[in-house]
Amino acid sequence: MATDDLRRLEAQALEQLQQCSDEAALRAWNTHYFGDNGLMKAAFGKLKEIPKEQKAAFGAEANRVKAALTEAYEKALAAAKERALQISLTTNPLDVTLPGRMPRRGRLHPATQILRQIYAIFADLGFQIYRTREVETDAMNFEYLNMPAHHPARDMWDTFFTTTPNVVLRTHTSPGQIHVMRAAAGRPIRVILPGMCYRNEAISTRSEIQFYQVEGLVVGEGVTMADLKGTITAFARRMFGPDRQVRIRSSYFPFTEPSIEVDIDWPHDDPNRDRLTKGTGWLEILGAGMVHPNVLRAGGYDPQKVTGFAFGMGPQRMLMLQHAIDDIRLFWQNDLRFLQQF
Ligand code: PHE
Repeated sequence: MATDDLRRLEAQALEQLQQCSDEAALRAWNTHYFGDNGLMKAAFGKLKEIPKEQKAAFGAEANRVKAALTEAYEKALAAAKERALQISLTTNPLDVTLPGRMPRRGRLHPATQILRQIYAIFADLGFQIYRTREVETDAMNFEYLNMPAHHPARDMWDTFFTTTPNVVLRTHTSPGQIHVMRAAAGRPIRVILPGMCYRNEAISTRSEIQFYQVEGLVVGEGVTMADLKGTITAFARRMFGPDRQVRIRSSYFPFTEPSIEVDIDWPHDDPNRDRLTKGTGWLEILGAGMVHPNVLRAGGYDPQKVTGFAFGMGPQRMLMLQHAIDDIRLFWQNDLRFLQQF
């Protein structure tokens, strides 16, 4: 083999390159000449058979041919790709004015949203958040809350009993009061206790078997009903608007004495005001009261030394009021058409 052969190889390669009509053909061409068993490789392999004095000239020519072919190949490849693109653009036109597809955005469940709103308000008032269990003993759910066995007030809550004796799903967050008091071991307390509660109710637009409650508990020296009223008023104004008035009615809970129910005056500009408040203008938002001495005792506190107040509210009920939602069952049905509105 001599330098002439190299030139012949070059000419033949370039001619074949011209005939390659697409990328696949070009790649085959490349393998044919530059692959492991390719003709260029073979040509370089001949170098050792070349007489010594011609080696340099042959080597230089081989390198030149290699460079020339590589350049020609790359140009042809780029041109083929461009051609392919033009063809796909004209035969399969792309409408760049078409609006993009909106990615779906995740969001928090409305119940989570209102819980976070409530946490933020109470955090500003100096409350800590404390969580306790959803499965409770009968003692925690009732007895320590001043309802011994067979106390008729137990009927205020339709209870889910488990197959384990004396173990129930909590019917309210109030057992958390006992847990917190025992954990705080005599120190002053200012907490909210959010969480899921369960009641064995017939499901309807107004009652569900599971729902959130947010309990509040403050215990310390000299805590009074005025503190309770102040706290609830501050909360109601942050939650429902700065002009809200709070109305207190006497009520009954076994674990508070005295017990109250708290209403707020519903905003006059809400077109649903009459329907929501049944014409009274007032709407109940929570139950509350001064912690019963027996409950303080069950938590390890001395009712001679400290007093406390507690309240329990239903955040989902508040959400229903704020958004005129008329069916509580919507919360846990996971219907996106409902959830996406929040
Ligand atoms: N636990 C009561 C209920 O579920 C609400 C409540 C809590 C009332 C704390 C007074 C004090 O109905």
